[in-house]
Amino acid sequence: MTILICPTCSTSLQAFDKNYACEKGHSFDKAKQGYVNLLLSHQKRTLLPGDSKEMVDSRKKFLNKGFYKAIAQAVNECMQESLIADGAQVVDVGCGVGYYLSYLQENVSVKHPVYWGVDISKEAIKCASSYKAIKWLVASSKNLPFASGSVDIVLSVFSPLYLEEINRILSPQGKVIMVTPAKQHLIELRSMLFEQVEAHSVDKTIEKYSAVFDIKEQISICASFSLSSQQDIDNLLKMTPLYWKSSASKKEALRKVESLDLTLDVVLWELSKRSYSLRT
Ligand SMILES: C[S@@+](CC[C@H](N)C(=O)[O-])C[C@H]1O[C@@H](n2cnc3c(N)ncnc32)[C@H](O)[C@@H]1O
Ligand SMILES: [Zn+2]
Repeated sequence: MTILICPTCSTSLQAFDKNYACEKGHSFDKAKQGYVNLLLSHQKRTLLPGDSKEMVDSRKKFLNKGFYKAIAQAVNECMQESLIADGAQVVDVGCGVGYYLSYLQENVSVKHPVYWGVDISKEAIKCASSYKAIKWLVASSKNLPFASGSVDIVLSVFSPLYLEEINRILSPQGKVIMVTPAKQHLIELRSMLFEQVEAHSVDKTIEKYSAVFDIKEQISICASFSLSSQQDIDNLLKMTPLYWKSSASKKEALRKVESLDLTLDVVLWELSKRSYSLRT
C-alpha cells in the first residue's frame, strides 16, 4: 500500500509494476516514462491543463542554468531542519519540471524520505520523470490523491495551493514549505512589460495563509542576477504568467534586449498545521 488514494473512490491505491489499482478495480497505468496520471477528465477545465510544452521547455532551460539556485538552497536548508522522521512523505505540489524536488533529493541527507512530485501539466511531469528516484503524478492541487493526514511536508514554489486540501493531507505535525514572490521580484522585467507595475503583496500572503496555518518562519531571499543572452531572457519570460499578461508590442521591445540585470526577491515560508486544543 502507498499513501495514494484512488481519485475515483478514495480507497487506498496499491502500487504494482505497471500500474496502481484500488480494491474496487479502478486501475491507472504507469506511462513508459514512469509517471502515473491520476487526473480524471472531469477535474480538467481544458484538454491540456497547466503549463504548456513551450513553458515547460523554457522553465527547464532557465532553471538548469542555476539562476534560481538560491531558492533551491534555501528550500534544502529548511527541509534539512524539518525532516526528522524516518521515511517522511514529501510532496511538491505544482512541481513543474521537478527542479526543486530533484535538487532536494540529490543534496539533502535525510532518513529514507519518499518524494512525490505533483503537477496538473502532463508535459511538466513528463519532463520531470527523468529523475527516477522521485514518484511523479499528474493530478490537481484541488484534489490531491493522498490519504488524509498522510503527508509530512508539502513543498510549493510559485504554485497555486488550495489551503483546505493541503490541510487535509498534512499529518498533525505536518509542515508546508512555500516560496512566493515579494515586492521587488523581477521588478526590472515587470517595469519593461507594464506601464503600471503591480507589487506582490507579502501582507496578503500572510493574511491568506494565517487563516489556516501557523506561520513558523518567514525568510527573505534577495539576490541580483544577470541574463546575458536573448535566449535566457526569452526563457524567463515564457516560463512566467508575465508572458500572457503583457502586450505584443512590449514583448517585441524585449526581444531587442540582449542582457538584463534582475532582482530575485522571494519569501520562503514555513507553515505548520494549526493545533486545536480539545475541550474537556
Ligand atoms: C509557476 S509554475 C512553478 C513550477 C515549479 N514549482 C517551479 O517553480 O519551477 C506553476 C506550476 O503549477 C502547475 N499548476 C497550475 N495549476 C495547477 C493545479 N490546479 N494543480 C497542480 N498544478 C498546477 C503548472 O502546471 C506549473 O507547473
Ligand atoms: Zn477506486
